Amino acid sequence: MLARLAILGLAGAASALANAQCGAVLKNDGEPVGEFKDVNGTQIYHSYPTSGGSNTTAILYLTDIFGVPNPQAKLLADSLATAAYTVIMPDLFKGDPVPLDALEGPGLNLTDWVARHPQEEVDAIIEATIAYIHTTLSIPKIAAVGYCFGGKYVPRHMTASSGGIDIGFIAHPSNLLPAEIEAIAGPISIAAGELDATYNATHRNTAEDILMSKNLTFEASLYSGAPHGFGVKVDWAVREQRYAKTAAFEQALRWFGFWA
Ligand SMILES: *[C@@H]1O[C@H](CO)[C@@H](O)[C@H](O)[C@H]1NC(C)=O
Ligand SMILES: *[C@@H]1O[C@H](CO)[C@@H](O)[C@H](O)[C@H]1NC(C)=O
Ligand SMILES: *[C@@H]1O[C@H](CO)[C@@H](O)[C@H](O)[C@H]1NC(C)=O
Ligand SMILES: *[C@@H]1O[C@H](CO)[C@@H](O)[C@H](O)[C@H]1NC(C)=O
Ligand SMILES: *[C@@H]1O[C@H](CO)[C@@H](O)[C@H](O)[C@H]1NC(C)=O
Repeated sequence: MLARLAILGLAGAASALANAQCGAVLKNDGEPVGEFKDVNGTQIYHSYPTSGGSNTTAILYLTDIFGVPNPQAKLLADSLATAAYTVIMPDLFKGDPVPLDALEGPGLNLTDWVARHPQEEVDAIIEATIAYIHTTLSIPKIAAVGYCFGGKYVPRHMTASSGGIDIGFIAHPSNLLPAEIEAIAGPISIAAGELDATYNATHRNTAEDILMSKNLTFEASLYSGAPHGFGVKVDWAVREQRYAKTAAFEQALRWFGFWA
């Protein structure tokens, strides 16, 4: 394994880490292997296990604001699929994600963008995707991952009344409200970054207090040197970031492997 890593490092190409969890492999670069399908007007990225996948549990991937075109999101979906799950990643933004380079330039008005994607519309897309997994794909159980923006929507669809998501993992969630945490009904795993101002120490403490007071099944990890977004995109050359992304990936799969 060390030799393989060294070779990959020298080649400067694919950076992959073999994972103890069912032989899953985290791919940080390279070409995505999944496919888009139009499901009743929504573009949904599908990534399949190479063989013998789970017929009982699918992974629903709820993206950050960069949405489904982001190569890092597709590669992460592909990586989760290597743990023998079908991974389903819907376009939550109707073809209008934040462009990958937008945060670096002055052109982006995030207030405006958020207003174009009201919560009810995003919720409706998620509900339709959940129905698609249950009925068209005939997979009864849903484990969900949510990053940043998507980290708010996993809890929103994990309530006792929603019957949507059964098991959840979220990393560096944004705008996650106490009421949304209180309503969580299933096992939830949270990955946070020390350098993330969006899900900061105050938010983390609030979330953990609620989860404990509600007697929920949860885990919460904090990764040092990890910035906002670390679960999806890191500077792979920085050791702490590389560790944080890899560990968050393993955290999600370990959680699903045990609770699904
Ligand atoms: C398809 O989408 C339309 C709205 O775009 C919705 O009214 C309808 O219920 C959807 N059908 C299914 C099967 O999800
Ligand atoms: C899933 O279902 C297919 C088709 O029925 C079957 O061939 C396969 O063995 C099943 N996989 C598992 C892991 O049960
Ligand atoms: C951003 O968009 C909002 C809503 O459309 C608007 O009120 C605000 O003035 C805009 N901000 C900038 C800096 O253009
Ligand atoms: C976290 O952010 C909130 C605003 O969303 C702020 O009120 C709070 O003071 C921050 N906490 C820390 C420890 O920075
Ligand atoms: C908390 O949950 C555990 C496991 O589900 C259960 O055994 C225990 O009775 C619960 N405690 C309270 C105070 O509800």
